Amino acid sequence: MLARLGWGISSLAAAPVVYGGFVEPFFLNVRRYRLQIADLPAAFDGLRIVHLSDTHYGPFVPLLHLQRAIMASNALSPDLVFLTGDYIQRTRRAIDPGIGAFSGLHARIGVYAVLGNHDHWESESLCRDAFRRISVPLLDNRHLFITQSGVQENASKHPTLCIAGVGDLWEGWVDFEKALRGVPHKQPRLLLSHNPDTAEMVPRSERVDAMFSGHTHGGQMSLPGLGTPFVPSRYGNRYAGGLCKGPAGPVLVSRGVGMSVFPLRFLAPPEISLITLARKL
Ligand SMILES: [Fe+2]
Repeated sequence: MLARLGWGISSLAAAPVVYGGFVEPFFLNVRRYRLQIADLPAAFDGLRIVHLSDTHYGPFVPLLHLQRAIMASNALSPDLVFLTGDYIQRTRRAIDPGIGAFSGLHARIGVYAVLGNHDHWESESLCRDAFRRISVPLLDNRHLFITQSGVQENASKHPTLCIAGVGDLWEGWVDFEKALRGVPHKQPRLLLSHNPDTAEMVPRSERVDAMFSGHTHGGQMSLPGLGTPFVPSRYGNRYAGGLCKGPAGPVLVSRGVGMSVFPLRFLAPPEISLITLARKL
């Protein structure tokens, strides 16, 4: 009787660990948002953006999980895909397959990316090379203008949307002024930044209509009654995940696709975000 009771109690105690280690990390939820943007040209009303972040291909995340995320993104028929960093985990050998896999992404207009702290920790230059090989532009501290059919150098010819990015807060260089230099103030701009804490650094003179970030993984673990004890941010839970309010505007923080630090997710499942833009009237 006592042995059975002991077995039952230890099974109950092990269940969350088994769930958090082997079940939840391989969910892939699609989280949908509708984002109203002031001055959005009519041509971009209804634009569909898939946001993928923190894929962390490496010892904790098999290639199959990454490929499932890419297939799920393609199934959403996006116009744009934004990738916001931390593509690999713990080994340089992950760089080529972990970034090269994004060549399978389909987006009508294009795929744009910034690097995260883990990419710098393994090799910034090898990550840049890997993105160059698959022709995905890295937008650290720069911008470009997209039209309905592609990219152009300036905002003058057709209705355009500005897509910008800054470098990683921990390991790169964050320069909003350089990233947005020369962008007309009337021009709506979307900005990629791996670390959402940079939302607090947007200069008051700059306009950022929406930021797209990752890094915090939704805490990766959310404990009933205790919340999210491991959020790597100076601002506690403010940017743990979801549609957050930054000083300059909304910050969409993805919980990410993979795992880092510990191979566990609990009540903070992986996600893909689908954002539909709408004109703010
Ligand atoms: Fe990460």
